[in-house]
Order: sequence, then structure tokens, then C-alpha cells
Amino acid sequence: MIETNHHESVLFNESIEGLNIKSDGVYVDTTLGRCGHTKGILKNLGNSGKVIGLDQDMDAINYARINLPDPRLTTIHCNFSKLQDNLSQLNLLGKVDGILMDLGISSPQIDNADRGFSFNKDGALDMRMDQTQTVTAASWLRDSNETEIANALYQYGEEKRSRVIASTIKEYQKNNDLNSTLELANLISTVVRPGKKKHPATRSFQAIRIVINDELKKLSEALDQSIGALSTN
Ligand SMILES: C[S@@+](CC[C@H](N)C(=O)[O-])C[C@H]1O[C@@H](n2cnc3c(N)ncnc32)[C@H](O)[C@@H]1O
Repeated sequence: MIETNHHESVLFNESIEGLNIKSDGVYVDTTLGRCGHTKGILKNLGNSGKVIGLDQDMDAINYARINLPDPRLTTIHCNFSKLQDNLSQLNLLGKVDGILMDLGISSPQIDNADRGFSFNKDGALDMRMDQTQTVTAASWLRDSNETEIANALYQYGEEKRSRVIASTIKEYQKNNDLNSTLELANLISTVVRPGKKKHPATRSFQAIRIVINDELKKLSEALDQSIGALSTN
């Protein structure tokens, strides 16, 4: 019987049921986070089953290594766009029974102000999921021109006020460094009205996060590689 019952991870029961776990199967959790889904997979695996857990955030990998020491779990710090390379190294390419992707950011990433994802807490304007990457939200906003910023806010955040926000940012940067999350959130609030339950900076923060982590391209690369990673049995 499939063991479920967990309330923190998104669509936990549905994901575990959807993976149709075989007790000796090989599963890849491409977005380990705080290991909620991985714990569920491990619970349903026998001794010869395997989980390969990937995350581009070293904090997530360290968390798993400390809190979930399990001989059936292999953790790898990498972007899921490197799925096939990593499976090849483990001699598991074409032998995987199921792949899970729980996209976006984790609660610890939002809750830790220093990671720069939250418009409610002051922290460095960072937004990198992978701390080894060099481009941060602050450096991207500094080095991009007004049109590039406006286009990104519109394309990835569907922000209707994208042009006004971009010009406000560039105007501000003439006399100030824009290095903190609250500085950016407050600046956006001067030109965007709050929604019923939405902070005025919600769409812009989402868009900038997608740019900094190149999320759509990485997802497309990972999806392309997923079919070849799976077992045909
Ligand atoms: C929503 S959380 C996953 C939560 C997890 N399923 C759980 O139950 O705890 C998303 C995680 O995926 C990671 N992530 C997002 N995009 C990634 C990518 N392209 N490659 C590797 N990890 C990624 C993030 O760093 C974050 O830790």
C-alpha cells in the first residue's frame, strides 16, 4: 500500500501516488528543498530502491545530508538542467522509474531574508537559488537598461506597470545603489497600487527571480532530458 500522509509539501499525496512507486525503483527528486517529497518516496521504497535528490541550492543539499542520512538517497548539488550528465555518472541514465519536479522556491528560501526573495523582509537583493552563481538581482538591475528590465517584468511577471517601474528604478539608480529588497519593494510601491491581497512588488519580484535563475530555460532543458532518463520498462 502507498504510504502518504504529509501536509507540508505541495500536492504531496498526489505526487507520491502519481509516481506509482515500485519498491526496488529508481526515482529522481529534481527539487529536493526540505526533502518532503523525498521522505515520502523513501517511505514507499524497499531496501534496494534509490532516490537521487538534486537541488541547485547548497543549503538544501546540506539540509538533506544532515537530516536525512539514508543509504538509498544520493544527493547532488546541481541544476536539474544537468539531469542526464549526473545520471550518466551514476550509471542510471535510462534506468529511472519516475522524476519529480516541485518548481519554484522553498519556504526556507523565502523565510531567510538574506536570500533576497522576500519583499516583506529586508535583506540583500540577491535572489540566487544557486549561491555559486555570480549574477544577483542587484547586479542585474544595475547592469540592465530600462528596456531590458521593463521587458522582463512584463514577460515573466505580467506586470502592466513594467515600463513605469523600470524607469523609476533607473532614475533612482542615478543617485543611489539599489541593494536591498525593501528598498526595491518600497520603490515599486511608489508607482504600483496594491492589489486586494497582493503586495505591489509581487509580480516584479517573481519576474526578477525567474530572470536571475533562468528558470524557464532550465526547465525546458530538464524536460527535454527527462524522457531519455526514464526506463522503458
Ligand atoms: C518548492 S521547493 C521544493 C520543496 C520540496 N519538494 C519539499 O517537499 O521540501 C523547490 C526547490 O527546488 C530548487 N530548484 C528550483 N529550480 C531548480 C533547478 N533548476 N535545479 C535544481 N534545483 C532547483 C530550489 O532551490 C528549491 O530548494
